[in-house]
Amino acid sequence: MEPPDHTNDTDLSAFAYPDGWFVIATADELKPGGVITKPFMGKDVVLYRTKSGLPRAVDPYCPHLGAHLGDGKVEDEDIVCPYHKFAFSPDGRCVRTGCGDKPPQAQLESRHVRDWNGLIAVWQGADGRVPEWELPEFDWAGYSAPIRSVRFLPGSVQNPTENGFDPNHQKPLHGWGNSVAQLQPCDGSHRLDVIARLTLKGLPIIIDVKLHGLGLMAVEVSLERAGLQAKFLVTPAQIAPLKWTYRETMRLRISWLARWPAFARKTIYALLAPAVYHLWYVPQLKQDIRIWERRSFIRYPRAIAVDAPLIAYRRWATQFYPACKTGVAHNGKQPSENREAVHRFADDGERAHAEHPVHFVLPSRTAAKVPVPD
Ligand code: FES
Ligand SMILES: [Fe+2]
Repeated sequence: MEPPDHTNDTDLSAFAYPDGWFVIATADELKPGGVITKPFMGKDVVLYRTKSGLPRAVDPYCPHLGAHLGDGKVEDEDIVCPYHKFAFSPDGRCVRTGCGDKPPQAQLESRHVRDWNGLIAVWQGADGRVPEWELPEFDWAGYSAPIRSVRFLPGSVQNPTENGFDPNHQKPLHGWGNSVAQLQPCDGSHRLDVIARLTLKGLPIIIDVKLHGLGLMAVEVSLERAGLQAKFLVTPAQIAPLKWTYRETMRLRISWLARWPAFARKTIYALLAPAVYHLWYVPQLKQDIRIWERRSFIRYPRAIAVDAPLIAYRRWATQFYPACKTGVAHNGKQPSENREAVHRFADDGERAHAEHPVHFVLPSRTAAKVPVPD
């Protein structure tokens, strides 16, 4: 069955996009000399890579007469417009014209962009905000090669990150055993962590979830008794109102394999990582997606005590919306109007907490027992 079309009853002009780093492509898609166009937050973003390998992200329309630069070409370090062949250097300046006339004083609007873990991340900052944090580095020594995927889904970019803070769905939706979730110390910045302890067929599992804004959720799933760890980088991005991409990267690490010869290790990872991904992970992801595609965001959720991490998440998420930072949304609407829009997550959590207070401890002494890598 087709997912419901929420656009029928929604004023999409008021859709609020969050600030932060968001992944919109893989590095493989952007070869030196390549130009690609990606939808992102209601617009196109043109990505190109100079011949020397520098990634750039620019607004799509040429400042001369508005041709789409996604049809342009890279010449050495410059991007050249397909229409009258104006060329723009990596800093966005127009440096030559196709007819040989002196170039105009024109500047391409660009975004901050990062080559990061085999992915291309761009910064979204309403009202010209520059990056307020950097994406984290990871040490992938001992891990399998990454398995990547991307899915285009209806709804909100907040679905997967909220899912990570909703341990109460693991048992009824995915069939896991009982879970205990412990929010980790958080200073209210772009970071928010939770560690959940669950069982799967009687085996204890630890799920360590770390958020870096709304565009990166790093998840470690550890089956300690087997020395097995699956690490996911979940990198969702809103591409348009109620349209988003779910991207993820999974790597596997088996501690005892470190003692095996390299070729044996490689062979086992080549067999086991796809099996874990396709036979264990994807079926569960599909259960979540079925919910995400068809859910309606309840304005005043009737929260219960175990929803505490989720309520904390919704309150934390408000900071990424321009209306919450400036008092006025970048679309010109007042925060109250903006919050009436389809993106109701943030407000809901706060309201629910006020109406139905749930109690959670932040930080807790028990959290100190759990090793939490930075
Ligand atoms: S529109 Fe780009 S060079 Fe004329
Ligand atoms: Fe889930």
